[in-house]
Amino acid sequence: MNVLDPIMWSVHVGFAVLWTGSVLFVTLGILPAALRGDVGGEVLAGIVGKLRWITRVGAVAFVASGGHMAGTQYTPAALTGTPRGHLVVTMIALWLLITGLVEVGSAKLTDGLDVGKLREPAREAKPFFYGAAGLSVALILVAGVLASPTVL
Ligand code: HEM
Repeated sequence: MNVLDPIMWSVHVGFAVLWTGSVLFVTLGILPAALRGDVGGEVLAGIVGKLRWITRVGAVAFVASGGHMAGTQYTPAALTGTPRGHLVVTMIALWLLITGLVEVGSAKLTDGLDVGKLREPAREAKPFFYGAAGLSVALILVAGVLASPTVL
């Protein structure tokens, strides 16, 4: 019995839910409070630190588990030459873009929080978090198509 496949699938989908959920929650649930000045700087710094941590541990988890799934289910030609392969490549590109946006947005927030500001860094970080949240929705849709064997 192959136990590695279900373990890798669980790691992949587990982090997919945790990471995209965290990006959406911070953007829709926490950032508006920061923009209003309704959340303490220390609390916000802690939340953003957790998001960065999930993003970085997630990067290792996605590369390991996604690499395993790609290596066992796809040939290089299938990745570049089939519709499902194109979706996997799109998945990787979206992951890279969202990771970059979260890192830049988080850095803008924490740099401002470090010097005692709140609303101004939240305003500067807003486009990056909105971009990350929008692309996360696109990534969830891509994953949904890949997980529906009857679509492609
Ligand atoms: C290094 C980045 C990544 C790689 C290499 C990768 C690779 C893959 C591969 C090869 C598959 C299997 C496709 C198939 O069944 O034909 C897959 C499925 C999936 N991926 Fe990723 N992925 C990555 C990042 C992500 C991220 C960031 C998410 C977050 C939403 C995600 C969510 C999913 C989901 C939900 C599935 C469907 C699982 C299923 O078929 O039931 N992946 N990924």
